[in-house]
Amino acid sequence: MKKILVSTGGGDCPGLNAVIRGIVKSAREHGGYEVWGSMEAFNGILLDPPDIVKLTNKKVAGIHTKGGTIIRTTNKGNPLEFPVTQADGSVKRIDRTAELVKKIKKRGFDAVISIGGDGSQNISLALAEKGLNIVGVPKTIDNDLYATDRTFGFQTAVEIATDCFDRLVTTAESHHRTIIMEVMGRDAGWIALHTAIAGGAEICLIPEIPYDIQKVVKKINKRYKKGKGFANIVIAEGAKAIGGEVVGSKSKEVGDTHIKLGGVANLLRHQLEEAGCAGQVRATVLGHVQRGGTPSAFDRVLATSMGVKAFNMVLNKNYGQMVAYKNHELTTVSLEEAVSQYNHVSTDHYLIETAKMMGVSFGD
Ligand code: F6P
Repeated sequence: MKKILVSTGGGDCPGLNAVIRGIVKSAREHGGYEVWGSMEAFNGILLDPPDIVKLTNKKVAGIHTKGGTIIRTTNKGNPLEFPVTQADGSVKRIDRTAELVKKIKKRGFDAVISIGGDGSQNISLALAEKGLNIVGVPKTIDNDLYATDRTFGFQTAVEIATDCFDRLVTTAESHHRTIIMEVMGRDAGWIALHTAIAGGAEICLIPEIPYDIQKVVKKINKRYKKGKGFANIVIAEGAKAIGGEVVGSKSKEVGDTHIKLGGVANLLRHQLEEAGCAGQVRATVLGHVQRGGTPSAFDRVLATSMGVKAFNMVLNKNYGQMVAYKNHELTTVSLEEAVSQYNHVSTDHYLIETAKMMGVSFGD
């Protein structure tokens, strides 16, 4: 029987389990394939003995409604720069992709389905170049992957953020306060932009448009003068003031090379207070609450269909490609194209115009 190895890499995202179930059910019922999962991305298959699990229909039954991933994930252990702690305590990064490909083939896997964001798909590309039969499935709540209109998990994150935003509006109104809500969005402000429109924010600050604090204060103070007496701001974690830097710190964990963003809402609170903002200012950071819990129906459908599509790509030997959602259809793009750039919010996007016409200020 032919075998497929599945990996989930990077940050978790609502819908990962629905993709896994989509792959397993279609592969077993229609293709006669056996599906295995590598625990914690490719770290599981790299171990000796490997930490891999057979994904049966029974194992995946009902998991489409659950957040997280049953085969777990990690952002530590990029096989291209695998961290190896030396005797003196220093960390050396080594390329283990050739070893990984060898191990996957030795274990009898005919193909790999790699579910992950930009970092994971860069790994997929490197493995494809080393001769591995690999297919990518795009994942990230940030929706920042180029070549796909949507990634699963994004819509759920927007629902969560909008629900939290609505709650902050009533408390801001009651206290005549300005409340800032920080959402995820490292390089792209999609979650912030959608939440600002859905929630009716006065101000939306995103990585793509550095903000002028004087303009933000002017907008708030004008509202107070008019007697509205409160304001709600949504800010993406990767936003920054003109000439400023993003707020975050280097991860202390071996193998995690990302800057840990978070805290820009508090910085903005201080900036507003110093710049003479009327009324009290409060800040709320949503953080990982946006990544947890049950996926929305839309994301379950998208994730399930992406899982099925990925299996069909394996069946048709359509390797070195990633599933993509374009114009309400599932299609495929090369891994090269998928990682060639980010899906930033362009300043001429129709949602920027929508927001501006609705009176939302981007601080520009
Ligand atoms: O890439 C998705 C994301 O949710 C980013 O928005 C955020 O900066 C990052 O993951 C957080 O990652 P971690 O789980 O390592 O804190």
